[in-house]
Amino acid sequence: MKLFGLIGCPVHHSLSPLMHNDAFQSLHIDAHYHAFHVEPHMLKEAVESLKALQCAGFNVTIPHKTAVMEYMDELDETATQIGAVNTVVNENGKWVGYNTDGEGFVRALCEQMNMELSGASILIVGAGGAARGIYFTLLKHQVSALDICNRTLGRAEAFVKKEKSAVYSLEQAEERLGEYDIVINTTSVGMYPNVDAMPISLRNLKKDTIVSDIIYNPLMTKWLQEAKEKGARVQNGVGMFVYQGALAFEKWTGIFPDTKRMEQLVIQQLG
Ligand code: ATR
Repeated sequence: MKLFGLIGCPVHHSLSPLMHNDAFQSLHIDAHYHAFHVEPHMLKEAVESLKALQCAGFNVTIPHKTAVMEYMDELDETATQIGAVNTVVNENGKWVGYNTDGEGFVRALCEQMNMELSGASILIVGAGGAARGIYFTLLKHQVSALDICNRTLGRAEAFVKKEKSAVYSLEQAEERLGEYDIVINTTSVGMYPNVDAMPISLRNLKKDTIVSDIIYNPLMTKWLQEAKEKGARVQNGVGMFVYQGALAFEKWTGIFPDTKRMEQLVIQQLG
């Protein structure tokens, strides 16, 4: 039996074991996925121990996504660009670090919202690790605008390609909101238990904009609810969670799993 896992702190709430173990079972793959609670000061030991146990691959979550890079034998180009690893594959005894978060978000956006990205004008709210993953993935598409707004401007300015993207304050973005086809919240603002908070005001949102939130607890943030009331097409963070997991699963097994089944399982747990 092959061993897969997740390292993070905390991990007890994670839905990844459920999602991956169900996929292994339904595809008759002899493997098991376990969530390991790893304190930051034990990260190196944990990564070495997993190698000693011949673990076939693992996911990485908060707070280890950047720190774990140091313990990789090789890093994929996208992971290096994003500055974070969420998926590790044991390739002939070497740990190779990847990042499927950005690609997971984009696949979910295109497939679930039936969205064609070329020519779209996009605003990303936030400039943390999740924003970087989404930004660099979207940059590979022929979008007409890919702008970022953040509370701390310098954090966005540090990674954006200046010739391609404008950086705005949250207030400036609120004013310009009507210019965008897609608006994505990558911040934790509105996440349980602070469910009344909103990342930016939607007063200037135009009807039919796609509004996406990477938060999936609650399933409908106050921000998404308001966007829906204003006539936007909305998407929550379940899609990104499922697709980043499906892409990791594919790297480990060579098989792209049934994302509809994964999504149902996750919604059942969260609903
Ligand atoms: P992650 O790696 O999960 O994206 P992160 O690196 O902590 O998490 O980034 C969190 C994002 O949410 C950042 O854009 C952060 O803004 P700052 O860069 O100004 O810190 C944003 N964020 C978090 N709490 C916020 C709040 N109360 N108001 C506005 N933005 C907030």
